[in-house]
Amino acid sequence: MGKRDLICLCSTILALWSVSFVQAEDAYRYFTWTVTYGTASPLGFSQQIILINGQFPGPKLDLITNDNVIINVYNKLDQPFLITWNGIKQRKNSWQDGVLGTNCPIPPNSNFTYKFQTKDQIGSYTYFPSTLLHRLAGGFGALNVWQRSVIAIPYPKPVGDFTLLVGDWYKFNHKVLQRRLDSGRYLPFPDGLLINGQTHSTFTGDQGKTYMFRVSNVGFRTSFNFRIQNHQMKVVEVEGSHVIQNLYDSIDVHVGQSVTVLVTLNQSPKDYYIVASTKAFSSGKGAPPVLKATAVLHYSNSQSSVSGTQPAAGPDNVQWSLNQAKTFRWNLTANAARPNPQGSYHYGTIPITRRFVFANSVPTIGGKQRYAVNGVSFIYPDTPLKLADFFNIPGVFSLNSIQSYPSGNSASLGTSVVGTNLHDFIEIVFQNNERSMQSWHLDGYDFWVVGFGIGQWTQASTATYNLVDAPTRHTVQVYPGSWTAIFVTLDNQGMWNLRSAEWGKQYLGQQLYVRVYSPYQTFANEYNISSNALLCGKAVGRL
Ligand SMILES: *[C@@H]1O[C@H](CO)[C@@H](O)[C@H](O)[C@H]1NC(C)=O
Ligand SMILES: *[C@@H]1O[C@H](CO)[C@@H](O)[C@H](O)[C@H]1NC(C)=O
Ligand SMILES: *[C@@H]1O[C@H](CO)[C@@H](O)[C@H](O)[C@H]1NC(C)=O
Repeated sequence: MGKRDLICLCSTILALWSVSFVQAEDAYRYFTWTVTYGTASPLGFSQQIILINGQFPGPKLDLITNDNVIINVYNKLDQPFLITWNGIKQRKNSWQDGVLGTNCPIPPNSNFTYKFQTKDQIGSYTYFPSTLLHRLAGGFGALNVWQRSVIAIPYPKPVGDFTLLVGDWYKFNHKVLQRRLDSGRYLPFPDGLLINGQTHSTFTGDQGKTYMFRVSNVGFRTSFNFRIQNHQMKVVEVEGSHVIQNLYDSIDVHVGQSVTVLVTLNQSPKDYYIVASTKAFSSGKGAPPVLKATAVLHYSNSQSSVSGTQPAAGPDNVQWSLNQAKTFRWNLTANAARPNPQGSYHYGTIPITRRFVFANSVPTIGGKQRYAVNGVSFIYPDTPLKLADFFNIPGVFSLNSIQSYPSGNSASLGTSVVGTNLHDFIEIVFQNNERSMQSWHLDGYDFWVVGFGIGQWTQASTATYNLVDAPTRHTVQVYPGSWTAIFVTLDNQGMWNLRSAEWGKQYLGQQLYVRVYSPYQTFANEYNISSNALLCGKAVGRL
């Protein structure tokens, strides 16, 4: 945390904030972040990166459920900039989501103060820049939400926690990579895999004690498998779900996802390898090389440095990974951030209001390779969709500009927004007909991951759904030539980004917005626009 960060819990200052989400008993946490370019040598040679308060990765946010977070972000880059809070649900508050469909970007040499609440959430999350390809230069960090003291968690409190932000990395500058995408080519294969922006992290713990490892895939295009030499990992939480606490030798983590595991240091006192390695989910000719990142688990009473064979990855095939994914199940008797058990919500018995099948594709449009969903390759208008909706500005987007099912039509550029109603209960099937992995993220929500399958989804696939103890999460993988089905209860009014978590794919058009609407416009359903909202495009001068 930088010197300028200020944490304030005093209630007199609270009273000065007239924002409608105020809940007097919840703490206020104040931060000032300055975003700059800097240099670092994560791959052994100097390159330009993006720093927050001089740090890469950015400062770790350790928050508590229901904290009110106020972060004043100063943009000292030469391009417009936004940060999105990956997995923070922004209840009634898509105003603070930090994506170009909800917020005007912060101009260079300017600032914007985000105000949001970590309402009813516990877990390991991340934040990252959502503008252009800034994310490929840094600016990301950990966002951990701890339980309130009155809430029981379904595992003994660990003596400490470690954050591992693992992700693929390029030797190229983000602007060079952007030009490449703009010219119609996709991102190259990454040049390395980093853990916390480095290739040599060490995590120190005491023999006999249990530690929490918060493992996130902050990469751009590659899934990885994660393991610790001679140690088993007990998965306790997946993106806010408390799951059945199984033990694993290795775990697959896909782009944009987070997993929280407990590890007991129950081996002889030495140092052990921590290894992450990329998975291709394809083999034979043309399969990309495996990138590996290692770190060290150091026992505080260690007698010797790391030795022996590095632990092997789980098999690099779809079936193995899919089988593991199905072992992540809701612990029905455990609570999440609220005291009631997760299993008291019988999601499997709720009638589906509407089904969407979203198929991703890689069309050529105007002579350039683009990425599309149901034949639409998303482009941003100059005015954020949320502002256009709020101020009734015509000509920015239209509802149902994308079909609910894949069509045979040729692909085109468009601003896809699907219209839904508050309290709809929807099913989304992601059909991945490409040969590469896909990872989908929905802002404003978590959702039940009810099914995975290889091949084409059909109505008959619904018979295989887990309607009892599927976990909820905010990002889900779709294997090559496979489908994944989710259920979402649309209880959060607003304008929400549904996107490929693979950053180049969303940049080139694999994203859309879900407008969750109610005809009864009340600030009880959705907060008012914030008084400091930035205005741009057709919204200039509207406040
Ligand atoms: C920029 O920072 C100033 C100083 O703290 C603050 O008063 C102002 O509200 C911020 N601007 C925005 C748009 O949030
Ligand atoms: C489920 O959660 C309960 C807490 O309610 C905990 O005692 C139990 O160990 C958990 N079960 C499994 C299998 O993880
Ligand atoms: C909503 O917010 C805007 C901007 O701060 C303000 O001008 C307006 O009065 C607010 N509306 C209500 C009903 O509070």
